[in-house]
Amino acid sequence: MKATAIAPSNIAFIKYWGRTDTGGLRLPANGSISMNLSGMTTTTTVEFDPSYSDDSITIDGAEDSGESARVTEHLDRIRATAETHYRARVVSRNGFPSGTGLSSSASGFAALTVAACSAIGLSLPERELSVLARRGSGSACRSIPDGFVEWHAADTTAGSFSESLFPPDYWDICDIVAIVSSEKKDVPTTKGMQQAATSLFYLTRLNHIPEKIVRIKDMIARKDFKHFGELVESEALEMHAVMMTQIPPLMYWSVGTLQLMKAVRKWRCDGIPAYVSVNTGQDVHVITEKTNAADVAARIRQEPYVKDLIINMPARGARTVDTHLF
Ligand code: DP6
Repeated sequence: MKATAIAPSNIAFIKYWGRTDTGGLRLPANGSISMNLSGMTTTTTVEFDPSYSDDSITIDGAEDSGESARVTEHLDRIRATAETHYRARVVSRNGFPSGTGLSSSASGFAALTVAACSAIGLSLPERELSVLARRGSGSACRSIPDGFVEWHAADTTAGSFSESLFPPDYWDICDIVAIVSSEKKDVPTTKGMQQAATSLFYLTRLNHIPEKIVRIKDMIARKDFKHFGELVESEALEMHAVMMTQIPPLMYWSVGTLQLMKAVRKWRCDGIPAYVSVNTGQDVHVITEKTNAADVAARIRQEPYVKDLIINMPARGARTVDTHLF
């Protein structure tokens, strides 16, 4: 009863910030649109065994990663669905820094969902896997389907699922993640999001999201990079405007974040089509087309505060693999 899955993290072009429920269902207040990231994956092996007396969870070599309670809760959901009480051994490895705002919970809970369901013998359709992954971490539901993905907002848990809009090879968008600091974020996303509605701008933002979703889907369909990039960047800034005006305010950026944002603006004036996005952390996603990726990566590398780069192309969603971690 052992299975292993690999899942990508994802970057949201239209972002999830705020939930409608307080009962732990992680129902988002708005729909979102994302792309899976080829260079930022989590691999997870899960084994259920009647002889285990407790769950044991090792993440990146550490048995007490601080995530164990959330992982056990997620295993409980899967055990309830499969009607079993078997405990599990879970070993998970992130191929990129975790807990710094690079959405390791998206890849982590997507990989855990697919590995645990497979190990326990639950064969669920993609839509149900995405609903299950959402219960672990909202953005994880977008890491289940392939490529460019839409996550639907709904009043019911079954209605809030993700589906693929386009396969990974549809459009050669490159997301270069510039690591500007390895500091862990001080306010976790789940907690920060609870206060979203205290921002005066929150409702205004929510009212505009359906129209933005229509626009971004059209821009992706037409591969209109300029208008797509402008919308992606303004959407990220808008989400951070809500964060900064919440009570208490949330400020995830560091000096390096702002410096790189300004540098990208300058490169645009020089004719380089690149745009930024930032999540709940200080690192910057610089989005460009593959044809300009080498040039943009070289420019990012020259910035003194950039410590490392992760170059991502659109990727497949979560899937099982044959090689186990134990
Ligand atoms: C800013 O999915 O990490 O990255 O549901 O509490 O686990 P939880 O939150 P999470 O939130 C991601 C927020 C974001 C925007 C986005 O990816 O859409």
